[in-house]
Amino acid sequence: MSLKDVFKCKNSTKRLIKKVKKRPLPQHIAIIMDGNGRWAQKRGLPREIGHRYGSEAITDIVEISAKIGIQYLTLFAFSTENWNRPDEEITALMDLLVEYLQKKLDYLYDNNIKLNVLGDIDAFPDHVQKEINYALDKTYSNTGLKLNIALNYGGRKDIVRATKRIIKDIQLGILNMDDINESVFAEYLYTADMPDPDLLIRTSGEYRISNFLLYQIAYTELWFSKSNLLWPDFNQKDLLRAILDYQGRQRRFGGIK
Ligand code: IPE
Ligand code: IPE
Ligand code: MG
Repeated sequence: MSLKDVFKCKNSTKRLIKKVKKRPLPQHIAIIMDGNGRWAQKRGLPREIGHRYGSEAITDIVEISAKIGIQYLTLFAFSTENWNRPDEEITALMDLLVEYLQKKLDYLYDNNIKLNVLGDIDAFPDHVQKEINYALDKTYSNTGLKLNIALNYGGRKDIVRATKRIIKDIQLGILNMDDINESVFAEYLYTADMPDPDLLIRTSGEYRISNFLLYQIAYTELWFSKSNLLWPDFNQKDLLRAILDYQGRQRRFGGIK
């Protein structure tokens, strides 16, 4: 890219930011970061390289989200079904997660970003758990963007886990069955205390949810990219364009406008 192109690019991002800020922002954006493997395959590279470039794409998306004032950003990084992949790929994903945290923790901390995990990390190797817990502790008191990373997360598992926790509280006498309603139920999910996602983005042209946030997306606006936009290429302008698209929609929640 020439210097002129860099300026052009920065200016068009600025213009998009200005436009996006004119209308109410989504409070909570969730992203299914898909297509790392295909990105690598297209270049004749191993899938792991796609994941590496994918993890780098996260940095810019976190930065722009914090900059424009998104309150919650939830990234699907590893699903309960991703255990079905070859061991080497799973190990590469864990290594990248550790590397991401080691490299970016100071940035997250300095920018008042609070990290949170959705999912069960007990299944992860000890050193990975340790790194995650360190990052959670370090950013615990931050009050800016809430950055949720979904790790070993599955929407069905989230619902089953919530049900079990509810039963336990009933047995302990903390909760009455008659008091359970949809919002009480939501408080037992990994996303307790958070608003439901307003916008769910999926890259790579797959039109499915793949067991992400099933309970929480009842009225979420969905945005699917074309199949030529794979996660490692998803940039700040793509996010801003998705938000603009969201802002042009009419949410009715079953009512009429
Ligand atoms: C998304 O990219 C990252 C994870 C699921 C961890 P994929 O690895 O699913 O990439 P594709 O879908 O095979 O291209
Ligand atoms: C969903 O992508 C999970 C993550 C992005 C972490 P997958 O690539 O695993 O989904 P499927 O298998 O294509 O549905
Ligand atoms: Mg995929």
